[in-house]
Amino acid sequence: MRAPRDPSQPSFTRRSGLRNLAVFMASSQLMRSQQDTFRDHSRVPRMDELVTSFDFESVAHAKLSEDAFQNTALGAEGEFTTRRNRQVFDWVELIPRAVADVSSVQTATEILGTKMAFPIMIAPTATQLLLHPGGEMAMHQGATAASNTPMLISFNASFPVDKIAAAATGPLWYQLYPRDTPEENREIVERVQEAGCRALVITLDAPVGELRERALHLRNLATPRASNPQRGRRLGQDPNQKYGALNRQRPWMDWKLLDSFRKSIKIPIIGKAILTAEDANECVEHGWDGIIVSNHGGRSNDYVPATLEVLPEIVKAVQGRVPVMIDSGFRRGSDVLKALALGAKAVCLGRAPRYGLAAYGPEGATRVLEIIQGELVMAMAATGRATLDSIDRSLVRADFS
Ligand SMILES: Cc1cc2nc3c(=O)[nH]c(=O)nc-3n(C[C@H](O)[C@H](O)[C@H](O)COP(=O)(O)O)c2cc1C
Repeated sequence: MRAPRDPSQPSFTRRSGLRNLAVFMASSQLMRSQQDTFRDHSRVPRMDELVTSFDFESVAHAKLSEDAFQNTALGAEGEFTTRRNRQVFDWVELIPRAVADVSSVQTATEILGTKMAFPIMIAPTATQLLLHPGGEMAMHQGATAASNTPMLISFNASFPVDKIAAAATGPLWYQLYPRDTPEENREIVERVQEAGCRALVITLDAPVGELRERALHLRNLATPRASNPQRGRRLGQDPNQKYGALNRQRPWMDWKLLDSFRKSIKIPIIGKAILTAEDANECVEHGWDGIIVSNHGGRSNDYVPATLEVLPEIVKAVQGRVPVMIDSGFRRGSDVLKALALGAKAVCLGRAPRYGLAAYGPEGATRVLEIIQGELVMAMAATGRATLDSIDRSLVRADFS
């Protein structure tokens, strides 16, 4: 029972008044929104308040449903490789040249006939409708506004390739997950070429479905929305699948099949998801025109190395016969510079522009690209490299041990 009030004590003291005022202010929306823009989802920051590409991830998280966000963010199994894809940049130091004229920095390049203002492209990523109602068209709009950044359309895009291409003004490449018959592959290749895509990227990993523990946990343990079984199936694996059974995607892929539709391809052909010198050599020997060193952003196989770690041996094996590109983990201009120094001709960005699109629509994708492009220019100038040609192995000291 409450003790009766002592009539000799006033009911409202200066101290209690100040305490009440402090509590009121601390709990006010206005005050909280000033404290931590990223924790307080009631105030989404304006785009011009964001500084790095990383900042867009928090806003995308605030704006998307949990399952849609995790669909972009997650990696395979325990996500070791997804983490390592970022850690690896800490193991590469930049060694600047002290005296160099960097009054003008040149970043334009051309890869397999596609001109680009920066050695940066948008990696193929599936179902962009999850991020924005305009899906791949919105992403392309954002990419085009960022100095005509080339975009790779995923085989699992939300919209058909001809629809995306009809709305496009900037350069498009197309990514194929091969089908199991030559006829079906030829049909797709024809459609892609008719749509005006300038290169065909064939993704060579993920023969079987990966285990995405985070998607399965979400499905089983998280909010009712995230635990929608249909979503769970798409994000992770078939919920009816038995543990240990293979979730077959392309277990039949071999060079006989890949060679069978080679002749129908009139545009440059590029192998994606290369992590060894042997596989890179095989692509070149089979007459392919380029390589993308990729571990799928750590989404396909856990415990494979970060791409930057294997880049030097692949570049060495290819010996300049075809251009080597790279993706997985890239978020900063200095990341791009490190890859260029280790021999890549260009870098593809997967999650970074996805977070931009989810956070602020096409303008968000543009802004993410512009931030990374601007950072690249700054990193080149700061290290005394005014042209892409002047970037070489002497720019970095790498310790991957
Ligand atoms: C949500 C999502 C969907 C993806 N879908 C595809 C795909 O359909 N085809 C493909 O070859 N790669 C796909 N990837 C992999 C990307 O092309 C790229 O290799 C990867 O995102 C690079 O890593 P990053 O996200 O750290 O930049 C996807 C990646 C993400 C994040």
